[in-house]
Amino acid sequence: MPNELPVAGPCLSPLTLNRLALHGWSQQNLFLSDELTLALAAECRSEAAGGALLPAAVGRGAARAVRTAIRGDSILWLRPGRSAACDSYLLLMEHVRLALNQAFFLGLDSYESHFAHYAPGASYQKHLDRFRDDDLRTVSVVIYLNPDWPVAQGGALRLHPLHAPTSDVSPLGGRLVVFLSADMPHEVLPATHERLSLAGWFRRRPRGASLAM
Ligand code: OGA
Ligand code: MN
Repeated sequence: MPNELPVAGPCLSPLTLNRLALHGWSQQNLFLSDELTLALAAECRSEAAGGALLPAAVGRGAARAVRTAIRGDSILWLRPGRSAACDSYLLLMEHVRLALNQAFFLGLDSYESHFAHYAPGASYQKHLDRFRDDDLRTVSVVIYLNPDWPVAQGGALRLHPLHAPTSDVSPLGGRLVVFLSADMPHEVLPATHERLSLAGWFRRRPRGASLAM
């Protein structure tokens, strides 16, 4: 079946790319069309209602555990082919991957992404997206799915750049935030309303990986 959901704009704007290079993070409003934002929000909500989103864990290996005081969202990892809306989103992110590689020669070769649902009051304490034992995550992306989000509802993404003051980004539907996974501590502040998003990570080729199999 042809994929008929329209996607917004050509991709990342030059301004978004410039700001990412300058500050280590950037945001772009209206990255997703309203139609795609609504379709993804509806899918996230119905999967959450059906119990398909599971409490996210923190830590790696033996230390891996659900600790809701540290991280309170529930997530569902995406696979290609699960829905037309998700495939439209993944196609957009493929364009983003190519744009990032072209601009910064990052060697990004894959993208992993999940729906995230924060119930009112849930938060995610300050963290880095890159793990000590897996340094392949290079660029983090979050796209918000709540079409209306008054700032007073809370739920901001608070970025803690290493050499600049903190910045809060309100999770308004269609908005994209992109930042360097290794260097940008960040947290999710609690909200008064349910907060829906897609979070994802571009991974780079492992060093020394050979093309021959
Ligand atoms: C994450 C994360 C930020 C957000 O999922 O790792 O930091 O604004 N999300 O949802
Ligand atoms: Mn994070």
